[in-house]
Amino acid sequence: MQTTLPQLAAPATDDAIFLLGLDGVIQSWSAGHVASWRPEEVIGCHFSIFHPNGDAEACAEILARAERDGRYAEEGWRRRKDGSPYWASVVITPLRDAAGALRGFAKVTRDLHERRRLEQERVQLVEAKEAIQTRDEFLSIVSHELKTPLTALQLQLQILRERLQGTDPQLAARADRALRSGTRLTDLVESLLDVSRIATGRFELNLESGDLAETVRIVGDRLSEAALRAGCVVAVTAVPVPLSFDKLRMEQAITNLLSNAFKYGAGAPVQLNVRAEATDAVLEVRDHGPGIKTADMERIFARFERGVSSRHYGGLGLGLYVTRQIIEGHGGTVTAENCPPTGARFAVRLPLRRKEELH
Ligand SMILES: Nc1ncnc2c1ncn2[C@@H]1O[C@H](COP(=O)(O)OP(=O)(O)OP(=O)(O)O)[C@@H](O)[C@H]1O
Ligand SMILES: [Mg+2]
Repeated sequence: MQTTLPQLAAPATDDAIFLLGLDGVIQSWSAGHVASWRPEEVIGCHFSIFHPNGDAEACAEILARAERDGRYAEEGWRRRKDGSPYWASVVITPLRDAAGALRGFAKVTRDLHERRRLEQERVQLVEAKEAIQTRDEFLSIVSHELKTPLTALQLQLQILRERLQGTDPQLAARADRALRSGTRLTDLVESLLDVSRIATGRFELNLESGDLAETVRIVGDRLSEAALRAGCVVAVTAVPVPLSFDKLRMEQAITNLLSNAFKYGAGAPVQLNVRAEATDAVLEVRDHGPGIKTADMERIFARFERGVSSRHYGGLGLGLYVTRQIIEGHGGTVTAENCPPTGARFAVRLPLRRKEELH
């Protein structure tokens, strides 16, 4: 026997509260804005219209379980008026009269779509963070593990080269080439170590008083052979600029900029300039290579970002990233620009502050 069930007022929430007859036909409908149905569109229809595949058999099973267990609850996909699926919580309670006879069912459907989307986003964010952490740990372990045998290898090669120099100059030259490859490998491993130090907040600066021009000259001398091999004549103009800075890290930053100038501007002169300008120490490296595409100008300072194909130029895309970390760690800036008619200029600006003013 079917009973007429009362019409309910629309709830203030996102819930849809409605009554079903024994046969699953909707008898009343009061909803916030769940699934955008209006009462006249659903009353008189079987509640299977809310199910994505309109499965009447599954719906009958749901009602049977609600009757048998006294309650049916689930979370699952339901269908909006426009046919699109949404994630909902559904609770169905059997309604009995005073004599205990089943008269129908009350059903509450709650739209959980937004909540589920936010939850999924949160989970994805956590997973992405974990993946980044795993990568950083991997970088750290691999670079540490590579460093130890590399150092031993370099040491052996150095001894070999020294021994061969007097006896077999040709073999000594080969040992020298092997050493240079080893140095390149060590530099790459050091860059990877720096990336993991930066990622884990262990990238520290040891500030001491010094002269930026002197550091520039030290690096220039150290890289004179590399300049020769690249066919670059380096012109240094540097006036003394007293500064509080981390000498080793600054050497590393200058080395990165100069190595880039030799790599990308091979066969052409490179200018290195150090001067004081108002409140800043300024260091510029200018080459006459192909320059940098405007779209790449900022990107190249990011981790593993490169503006050239790895088929033409080797590298990890870390030199400028580490350089920027070093310079910004000193409270300074490093920027790139193109210089007509050709070539790039990298400018480092460091505030002429005392050590105790730096954090
Ligand atoms: N002097 C330059 N002239 C033209 N392009 C440059 C110059 N310096 C850097 N770039 C561009 O910026 C990118 C990033 O430079 P970065 O020094 O970070 O990495 P890399 O030189 O590719 O590799 P490595 O990690 O060995 O330094 C380069 O791949 C290149 O495209
Ligand atoms: Mg580089």
